[in-house]
Amino acid sequence: MGFPEKRRLALVGAGGMLGRMIQALSPKDFAVYPLGHRRLDLTDHSSVAAAMEEVVPDVIINCAAYTNVDGAESDERTAFQVNGEGPALLASAARKYSATLVHISTDFVFDGKNSSPYLEEDKPGPLSVYGCSKLQGEIEVIKSGLEKYFIIRTSWLFGPGGKNFVETISRLAREREELRIVADQWGTPTYTEDLAGAIFNLLALEKRTHQEGCPYGLYHFSNQGACSWYEFACEIVSLLKKNGRPLKVKRIVPIATEDFPLPARRPSYSVLCKQKYISATGADVPLWTESLHKYFLIQKNAGTCQTQG
Ligand SMILES: NC(=O)c1ccc[n+]([C@@H]2O[C@H](COP(=O)([O-])OP(=O)(O)OC[C@H]3O[C@@H](n4cnc5c(N)ncnc54)[C@H](OP(=O)(O)O)[C@@H]3O)[C@@H](O)[C@H]2O)c1
Repeated sequence: MGFPEKRRLALVGAGGMLGRMIQALSPKDFAVYPLGHRRLDLTDHSSVAAAMEEVVPDVIINCAAYTNVDGAESDERTAFQVNGEGPALLASAARKYSATLVHISTDFVFDGKNSSPYLEEDKPGPLSVYGCSKLQGEIEVIKSGLEKYFIIRTSWLFGPGGKNFVETISRLAREREELRIVADQWGTPTYTEDLAGAIFNLLALEKRTHQEGCPYGLYHFSNQGACSWYEFACEIVSLLKKNGRPLKVKRIVPIATEDFPLPARRPSYSVLCKQKYISATGADVPLWTESLHKYFLIQKNAGTCQTQG
């Protein structure tokens, strides 16, 4: 099947952390239509229909989600509306316009009982309302009858323009002498720049294969490597120090999950195996430490420009 010179990309959740990165990195062969929360509300059928009618998309990327993992425990209805039912509306719009749907999901669909990286075919077993709602979103896309979809599960996102662990630790390290960080939950941090690159690699693969033999379906993507939240925090503080940031923090203390009770249960191990993505695209996946260094370098240069400007 032929592709238009520029594929029309409906970017749902354009104002979020990943959405912004996708806008910034979209290749020239896409015409991006950013659909922020105000323009498209996933809980409102008619708002989804109206936005899609305006864009007439070739591709829909869904970065919108109810991402407050602890908040979802007491706001189950909204979490399921946005994360569970919203993707069904997008899958139905994708069918209507013969568009490809890229839907983002999460490592929190797993129960954390594995001791080696999770494969796409491993059985999900979410521990939280957020995880259950995101799993429902995946199921809705799969059972919609849409053929052209990529569901990409990812983990521990960081990047500019969002509330995330790197920003939280950077702030706390300026404010407190001691940080107490959970050391018995393992996963992989993922730079939004690398995830945005992976999404466009899969869409480029679709173009290369002319859709016919394109391996659509479920993929895992995160950076390479694994760490605990404690190790992640130590790396962040070490980079802040290297960059000469004025910090108050003197100690980072490893603690157990039970010492820091939160409303939502998290998997103790949620490392994702990326082999399916690597085999399909032939792309390299950077280590999380390399990508974190790169992110700090970019932030530092941006800061330098600001103070000089
Ligand atoms: N962040 C992580 O660590 C992480 C880890 C694994 C997977 N993921 C997944 O990755 C994707 C991107 O995450 P992110 O961190 O970029 O999220 P984010 O920064 O929280 O952005 C989510 C966006 O969704 C919008 N949104 C919320 N409710 C909506 C609705 N009813 N209709 C339309 N838009 C709505 C939000 O708008 P408002 O701000 O106006 O509400 C926000 O712009 C999500 O699918 C998430 O589940 C994230």
